[in-house]
Amino acid sequence: MIPDPLAQLPDYPFARLRTLLGDTPPGKPPVDLSLGEPQHAPPAFLTEVLDRNADGWRAYPPVAGTPEWKAAVCGWLARRYDLPEGMVDPAAVLPASGTREALFALGQLLLPAGLAGTGGADGTGGTARAPLVIMPDPAYLPYLGAAVLNGATPWPVPWSRTAATGGFPSLPDTVWEQARMAYICSPSNPQGTLVSREGWRRLVEKARATDTILIADECYSEIYDREAPAGVLEAVRDLGGSLKNVLVLNSLSKRSNAAGLRSGFIAGDPDLVAAFARMRAYGAAGMPRPVQAASAALWNDETHVEENRALYRRKFDLAEKILGHRPGFRRPEGGFFLWFDATGLGPSSEAVALRLWAEQGVKVLPAQYMMVGSDSLPEDRMRLRIALVATEDRLGEALERLNSLQPA
Ligand SMILES: Cc1ncc(COP(=O)(O)O)c(C=O)c1O
Repeated sequence: MIPDPLAQLPDYPFARLRTLLGDTPPGKPPVDLSLGEPQHAPPAFLTEVLDRNADGWRAYPPVAGTPEWKAAVCGWLARRYDLPEGMVDPAAVLPASGTREALFALGQLLLPAGLAGTGGADGTGGTARAPLVIMPDPAYLPYLGAAVLNGATPWPVPWSRTAATGGFPSLPDTVWEQARMAYICSPSNPQGTLVSREGWRRLVEKARATDTILIADECYSEIYDREAPAGVLEAVRDLGGSLKNVLVLNSLSKRSNAAGLRSGFIAGDPDLVAAFARMRAYGAAGMPRPVQAASAALWNDETHVEENRALYRRKFDLAEKILGHRPGFRRPEGGFFLWFDATGLGPSSEAVALRLWAEQGVKVLPAQYMMVGSDSLPEDRMRLRIALVATEDRLGEALERLNSLQPA
């Protein structure tokens, strides 16, 4: 028997896109800009380090992470966010086999239908509050899965409206009081907007005041246009350094073009990290030792990250050159998506995505497939998410084709 909550979830966006496009042939040689899968090469030393550590394939991976991996992650966090020595110590970081699984598994840890309700793995003895999970709308949908599959109620925040408050959502206090978790993504997927340092500070303070767990998804933090995005840990530092109620996740998928490595981390509140580690001992796959070694080498190197960022900037330039004149165009501050306004090109974002494929062979994700709330903002409904991942030639060609679509 498939449990009921699963039926409440829509199919995952890419499955919906496959269904939408069905057997429709592409109007021109296909270019796929639907998936946020980096196409730049990871640095060559990645495979060298994997090979040098091949001995580790025999061993079961330590769920808590090797000392070298932990030192690399703590060192990177301290350098990137200018943190005082020891603010994030090795006990406060855990490997995640890609951040997606950790973002999802946190629901199991923190929500009443998961461990918290059966005694409280986090030491709270469980919670009697009606569980809400605050999340952006549109969203990366594992947040929605984590909430719904653990019996909680998603509380979508129309994310485009948070620009004026630096990413601090305007919500009634009663919502914060009933919320167990708040997922906040910066740079945001899909809009590419940033939470400011002040925004993070207000979020941390509000989360603590209402005993909500703030989950900062920063997996696009190293792909940015002009200004390095502020991180939640800077706000934590400014507030005195206590990690209470705060978890941050980051990943090598985008930073190092290594989505296939499945390597990320979760860091923050030592009590929550310890509880997560205890839960993971029962069921997590663990990050293989060679992957931990290669990940440590990647976190210790910034040269390849700077090169990668420069490549994305050229793609932002290209997109602005081709599409910048269109109403509603916004160059993203971070991440690698365009949140393209398709108003006038069809009756819905889904219809435009189908049309773009059928006429021009360009595959993109309709806004509708990332929506969490039924009353999502009208200005978001006609958007397409366009991943600026293809090579410059192919990307330029695809964006020109998009630009040539005639009003419907
Ligand atoms: C917003 C957001 N968070 C997290 C992830 C997960 O990345 P990974 O599991 O590769 O670390 C993605 C991947 O596309 C994403 O878009």
